[in-house]
Amino acid sequence: MIIQNPGRISLIAAVISLAFVMSESDLPAANYDESKVPDYVLPEVLVTAAGAPVDSAGLWEKTRRPEILKLFENHVYGTQPGEIPVAAYEQILHVADALDGRATLREIRINFPEINNSPEIFVLLWTPNKGQGPFPGFAGLNFNGNHTTHADPRIRIPTGWVRSSNDGTVVNNRATEAGRDSSAGRWPVEKIIDRGYALATAYCGDIDPDFHDGFKNGVHAMFPSFKTGASGRDPEAWGTIAGWAWGLSRIMDLLDADSAFDSERIAVIGHSRLGKTSLWAGATDTRFGLVISNNSGCGGAALSRRAFGETVARINTSFPHWFCDRFKEYNDNESALPVDQHMLLALMAPRPVYVASAEDDRWADPKGEFLALRNAAGIYRLFEKDPVDSDSMPEINQPVHKDTGYHIRSGKHDINDYDWTQYLDFADKHFR
Ligand code: GCU
Repeated sequence: MIIQNPGRISLIAAVISLAFVMSESDLPAANYDESKVPDYVLPEVLVTAAGAPVDSAGLWEKTRRPEILKLFENHVYGTQPGEIPVAAYEQILHVADALDGRATLREIRINFPEINNSPEIFVLLWTPNKGQGPFPGFAGLNFNGNHTTHADPRIRIPTGWVRSSNDGTVVNNRATEAGRDSSAGRWPVEKIIDRGYALATAYCGDIDPDFHDGFKNGVHAMFPSFKTGASGRDPEAWGTIAGWAWGLSRIMDLLDADSAFDSERIAVIGHSRLGKTSLWAGATDTRFGLVISNNSGCGGAALSRRAFGETVARINTSFPHWFCDRFKEYNDNESALPVDQHMLLALMAPRPVYVASAEDDRWADPKGEFLALRNAAGIYRLFEKDPVDSDSMPEINQPVHKDTGYHIRSGKHDINDYDWTQYLDFADKHFR
């Protein structure tokens, strides 16, 4: 190739690299240096807004818990609409002898017939064939469609928007057959069934597609006037995580009505952004009897004030639709937040909560996840529970299962068989 104008080419290269550098530098920096974690003081959990010490479970439940829940609604996740539209359930799949006869597999479509263009949430339900129901179970959302969670060819492929991929499993934001089974490592269905648990999962995008469209699609569109004033969207209106959590509650409504599931023994579970979601679902809906956060990080189990790995500014820039608009006021200003994430974990009490981290998942700040759980211990003690309360983090792959649970496993950001083994053991401890 003959370079006619080398000067021009290097200028173009410089502009291109500047554009790259600029877009990178547009994103708020992430800190991975423990010595640069700012000094911080966590907001007090066990003192009411009026200054009264919270020294009883009664005062916690009557006064302090509602105060904290409201702070999270108004400053972090946004408020969910109070009104629950009538739901219709239609079974679209029923296989009595799935997994070589060990399980029953069903898929049920939830929609809201009184709502124009109601979203359709397809819930995949697995229940054991052995033993006597109703069964305790797990409920959690998946990232890319029910068909990605298991190889069974009868599981429906979503027809709406899914995140694009470069491996052929998604083409033009549409899921394809090639994606079947692609997340099965995250959903050890056989093991869950063989341990006597049921499982319900649905695609998060059925509830709200995971991109910022100004809240025009998904469940947000069901309540167009909710928290929208003359001056636009209310800063406390719900974001996508609150939408997904609302969807989990609608799945809980379904399980409540289903005789194969024991609605008193349902663990809500989620990984990463969906771990943030399982925590918010556990906080807003106390019907979930156990709450599991897997590698949920910033806006999930990790303390925001540590500003380690992903920060509030960073998450609000990359994912402006996840939280309520007011949360953006805390970009680079975490110390002004009236809450921190230990208070979110406290909202689960006295129900068991499990926080899991991964050693290489520094983006999610494992230490911040542990410290949040540690700092929720006092609330569990009000209920005479025995929470994780050591000051130092457990060693790698040394799970601690008390009335709260924690582990940090070796490896990367993910949810795998090791994690599920812990959750099943923890569920045995509390549900059996
Ligand atoms: C990104 C995001 C995290 C989130 C994760 C996930 O890494 O920054 O906050 O938890 O995606 O959901 O996989």
